[in-house]
Amino acid sequence: MKTVVRYGRSTAVLTDVDDPLAMLTPTERERADVFRLPADREAFVAAHVLVRLCAAEALGADPGGLTVVQRCDSCGGPHGKPSLVEAPELSVSWSHTHGGVAAAAGGGPIGVDIEGLRGRDFALLRKKTLTPAELRWAGEEPDQDAAFLRLWTRKEALIKVGRLSLGSMARADLVGDAGRLVARWDGFRFEDWAFDEFVGSCALPVHPAEAGGVDSGLESAGGLELVAEF
Ligand SMILES: CC(C)(COP(=O)(O)OP(=O)(O)OC[C@H]1O[C@@H](n2cnc3c(N)ncnc32)[C@H](O)[C@@H]1OP(=O)(O)O)[C@@H](O)C(=O)NCCC(=O)NCCS
Repeated sequence: MKTVVRYGRSTAVLTDVDDPLAMLTPTERERADVFRLPADREAFVAAHVLVRLCAAEALGADPGGLTVVQRCDSCGGPHGKPSLVEAPELSVSWSHTHGGVAAAAGGGPIGVDIEGLRGRDFALLRKKTLTPAELRWAGEEPDQDAAFLRLWTRKEALIKVGRLSLGSMARADLVGDAGRLVARWDGFRFEDWAFDEFVGSCALPVHPAEAGGVDSGLESAGGLELVAEF
């Protein structure tokens, strides 16, 4: 099955569809209403729309006919790991931040994350979530905040595929002895991107043909579609 990953500005996604709110379930619309800042509400709606566009493309289906469900493992509330009623076998993931969104759909476990650089201080998070090798690597990059978000978004994507938790982020070393960002970690590979003030990443299972460490390019050649929407 094709894997589709899309990312962009919330406003670009929302202007791309006729009636974004009509695509959402009543539960999703109720959750959207809770956001105080319009930009955050827009990003929530845009992410929930964008995942339907990704899933529709992966399935060859109508995005308006797809129903998102979420049920929290901890409290039973309508949030947490998402799936689609019409295609429970399809993995879906999305992420929203002030003004930016990303979403993904595909056949294997998939996790996506996007974060914004502006007006944030990452000093404390950096210390709590990076390994010594990652701290050294990020410290030597020209844009240290962007380098931190590269690692952070990869780790959040790994949380969404169930390989890490917020408390265990510092246990995954995505740099390693060679002092360079690794391409793969524990059976997953990463698709990274950056645009405007946003940095994002998607974690996808390593294709069997790549498991030996040779990058076959299979996903990027045919099976994976990585699309910038902005
Ligand atoms: C998953 C998590 C890392 C998301 O991080 P975030 O940067 O705050 O938010 P993002 O916009 O990137 O991602 C949010 C999306 O992640 C997804 N998500 C949430 N929990 C998830 C999980 N356990 N597994 C996979 N995906 C999950 C949802 O699709 C969510 O979208 P929504 O907010 O529109 O419902 C964070 O929510 C987390 O660690 N949650 C676990 C703890 C928790 O939520 N407990 C709730 C107890 S009531």
